[in-house]
Amino acid sequence: MENFKQLYSEKLVSAEKLAERLESGWVIGMDNAASQTPAIMEAFTEKVKNSDLKGIKVHTMLDVYPYEFYASNALDGKINGVSWFSSAGSRKAVNGGYADFIPNYYRDTPKLIRENYDYDAFCVAVSPMDSHGYFSLATTASYSEAMIDKARRIFVEVNENQPRCLCGLQLHVSQVDAIVENNIELPVLPPVKLDDVSITIGNLIAEQIRDGSCIQLGIGAIPDATGMALKSKHDLGIHTEMFTDSMVELLNCGAVNNSKKQIHRGKTVTTFAFGSKRIYDYINDNPSIEILPVDYVNDPDVICKNDNMVSINAAIEVDFWGQVCSESVGTKQISGSGGQIDYVRGACQSKGGQSFIAFTSTAKNGTISKIRPSLATGAVCTTSKNDVDNIVTEYGIAKLRGRSLAERTKQLIAIAHPDFRDELRFEAKKRGILV
Ligand code: COA
Repeated sequence: MENFKQLYSEKLVSAEKLAERLESGWVIGMDNAASQTPAIMEAFTEKVKNSDLKGIKVHTMLDVYPYEFYASNALDGKINGVSWFSSAGSRKAVNGGYADFIPNYYRDTPKLIRENYDYDAFCVAVSPMDSHGYFSLATTASYSEAMIDKARRIFVEVNENQPRCLCGLQLHVSQVDAIVENNIELPVLPPVKLDDVSITIGNLIAEQIRDGSCIQLGIGAIPDATGMALKSKHDLGIHTEMFTDSMVELLNCGAVNNSKKQIHRGKTVTTFAFGSKRIYDYINDNPSIEILPVDYVNDPDVICKNDNMVSINAAIEVDFWGQVCSESVGTKQISGSGGQIDYVRGACQSKGGQSFIAFTSTAKNGTISKIRPSLATGAVCTTSKNDVDNIVTEYGIAKLRGRSLAERTKQLIAIAHPDFRDELRFEAKKRGILV
């Protein structure tokens, strides 16, 4: 331990001092959410603003801190973001042309990184060093291991509020090039307000889920409402991309015990965790949660090994074919694919598995139907017509898998908002889908 402590103190620097090492043209990597390094990034950005440095790129995903290079185009050409997901934190920059976006299935990101990118530095937030000289990568495994493999330098931001994940990635002090300490509160997701419509949809999905199923829940009000509606179930398991608040609730109330899983029995498996402090407290020193790399966790061939796998995700709109857009409103990009397709496929390959794509029937105060004859011009197809399974709104469930175009169209019109059903029927007849 003495030797580790000495290494630690030799590598300890202030973020400002570390920023003096930054060079023009560097490509920097970070992973997602609470694993990002706000103090290092702020110091790097200040350095860039006050120097001739230029051409720096920062690869990120699911950004939760207010980075200046994503907030405005003032630093364009000097330091720019490159997003692997394009969520709220980077959306404005991606749509404004001063940040770039890399399309991907989330499960492929480690391979894409290993095959296409080299990083001058990988920056990651970690929990304090343990007595063996290891830092826990705490909340996120995701593609971190791939960035570590491809990084010339590793800079860690040690935060005593980071949980220690016993069954997750670890970095040894001998592997890291610099250590910055920053004991801030971890970022949290504002609690989702569950309205009547989300609760109705959550209940409809919960009715379809058998005791003993293994679940994945995506981001947003409807997956959360479904989680809450599952509290009366028994022997559920969790194999998911993102570990969320409603999952902690299900574990605490005993609905989830992971006892019926075919793989990782008795364990909750995820590739990252993000939500409230309750989540971070749950992870801390907990041997029953495994935070593992996304190329394993999100691999459909792994997901499907658990029987009765159920995936629940959100969307922007769906057309008569059942093509699901979850990433853009027309040409305006609002998200990446994330793991939606990984879980749709994994669930459908699983014995007894099912996937649900759920959304409220309308957008913009009831003025737009999310069920449409065709996707909006420029909209991105996330889940294809060949992969789609169940579509859910507050009016019911359309079971599309294995169904013809006419059957799909009829079922989708039946769960569209009543105000739009005539118009949708008219369009279906005009296109020769229905008579
Ligand atoms: N037409 C026009 N606007 C629409 C729309 C439609 N059909 N559907 C949604 N919108 C608008 C909403 O009004 C909202 O606008 P605002 O931000 O100005 O209020 C915005 O698009 C987001 O819609 P919302 O319903 O609030 O979606 P959400 O925040 O619950 O997120 C996804 C939905 C689809 C973007 C999100 O689930 C996602 O990122 N999916 C892809 C990745 C994924 O599924 N990962 C799963 C594993 S975690």
